Amino acid sequence: MTAIGWGKIILLGEHAVVYGYPALAAALDRGVTMDFVPTTKGGMRLNIPAWNATVKADDDSQLARCLCAIADALSLGRPELSLVGDAQIPHGAGLGSSAALAVAVARAMLAWQKKPADAATLAHAANASEMIVHGKPSGVDVALAITGGLGVFRRSSGLSSLKRADGTAPSVRVLVGPSGEPRSTGTMVQKVAAATGERPADKRLAELGGLCDTGTAALLGNDLAALGAAMNRAHEVLVDLGVSTPLLDDLCLHARALGAHGAKLTGAGGGGAVIAVAPRDKEQEILAAWKAMNVTGFVASVGAR
Ligand code: MEV
Repeated sequence: MTAIGWGKIILLGEHAVVYGYPALAAALDRGVTMDFVPTTKGGMRLNIPAWNATVKADDDSQLARCLCAIADALSLGRPELSLVGDAQIPHGAGLGSSAALAVAVARAMLAWQKKPADAATLAHAANASEMIVHGKPSGVDVALAITGGLGVFRRSSGLSSLKRADGTAPSVRVLVGPSGEPRSTGTMVQKVAAATGERPADKRLAELGGLCDTGTAALLGNDLAALGAAMNRAHEVLVDLGVSTPLLDDLCLHARALGAHGAKLTGAGGGGAVIAVAPRDKEQEILAAWKAMNVTGFVASVGAR
């Protein structure tokens, strides 16, 4: 059986979520899949051709340390096991690739052991890997990578799926633009820590949390203009925190100029991806404008299908 970890986008609340505020986030319909091949020699190893990544457990690399952290969290030692993955999302693009990978690896290891892959075990193992990637993970990427869907995540209570009063689940079409700019989530999380003194009461973090609440209510009410306004303001706050780049700003400006309700960076920033919510008849024009800037975007329909 193929093991999967879903990629994700954060509609609102990145960085603030590390300090206890909510984040509105959704899984993409793609991520990282993993198969296992028991072997008799060669040790524990991982190969992801789409990312040009091959590691053995004892290599001196971050990916090897992540692999070992997951095996340790699952009390596996260093088994004779070869993991082969396929990635449908780019690596390091702000789309939750490291969490998707960690969840797929943990699922494959548990499947190899014929053990149940319950959410708590998966989260424990994948968060051990995320700690190596950026030191202070909120857990939002891992939660989405495990369960998929669309919801509000809080460090204290985890992921709650969004439901309207009538029981229906909202959905939204989001344009996703992976900028291709390399970045590191860890560096960006540290940058925000330095900018805010790691004080949850910092007014920019609090504003991001408030915008998440406003945007969530807007999404539940199908008010895309209000959701977009919250996204636009959130981007400004993230600029103020120092995690945007001129290219991310430009991609957002083009999307708005072409009629998007809202656009912002998504994930840690410092490169990575932007997202935009736009009227359906504006989507192709926005994607074409991004393409002219060498960014190949796509439309993700997230939430209820
Ligand atoms: C990264 O996708 C989201 C951040 O808020 C970090 C985290 O929540 O762990 C920047």
